[in-house]
Amino acid sequence: MTNLLKTFYRSFISLLVLFAFNSASWASTLDDAIRTVPLNATKTVTLTPEQVKRGKRLFINTCSVCHTGGITKTNPNVGLDTEALALATPARNTIESLVDYMKNPTTYDGLESIAEIHPSIRSADIFPKMRTLTEDDLYTIAGHILIQPKIVAEKWGGGKIYY
Ligand code: HEC
Repeated sequence: MTNLLKTFYRSFISLLVLFAFNSASWASTLDDAIRTVPLNATKTVTLTPEQVKRGKRLFINTCSVCHTGGITKTNPNVGLDTEALALATPARNTIESLVDYMKNPTTYDGLESIAEIHPSIRSADIFPKMRTLTEDDLYTIAGHILIQPKIVAEKWGGGKIYY
């Protein structure tokens, strides 16, 4: 009987250890599926864990003052949530279209450039933080915007609280 109990106890402990180990490794490196996002309308791409980290840091440093948590403080109608990005013209829910936005941002209907009032490569003279960003930096920032909703779900962009 005691042996049986011991066996139970041991398997219980191993399960606990296994569980703790799995959650720890999940937290440090997000799995491939989460790091895989649309590159353009037809292709997807898997960012490396380093790109994900870099994208997060650059986004916080460059965009968070207005877009913390995926919302747009100065215009809550145009957030960075999945739905708003998908419904923009052109759709901004891929890496390439987001990189394009950071180079030359447009109104939600895509008709006019808003580079004069939105940070961009084109307006780097008036937005100093945009001056040092490389093509790969823009790529990782776009990746961050597309990966966040997969991690924090509806918290990214504030969910439905603005509707
Ligand atoms: C000074 C405040 C400010 C900063 C800083 C800022 N944005 Fe924005 N962003 C806005 C505003 C305001 C809008 C809404 C523009 C509009 O369509 O009228 C917007 C819109 C966007 C959109 C379009 C969203 C959609 O649903 O179509 C994207 C993408 C975006 N910003 C990305 C970024 C990125 C990436 C950065 C950092 C490199 C950044 N923004 C920095 C204010 C800011």
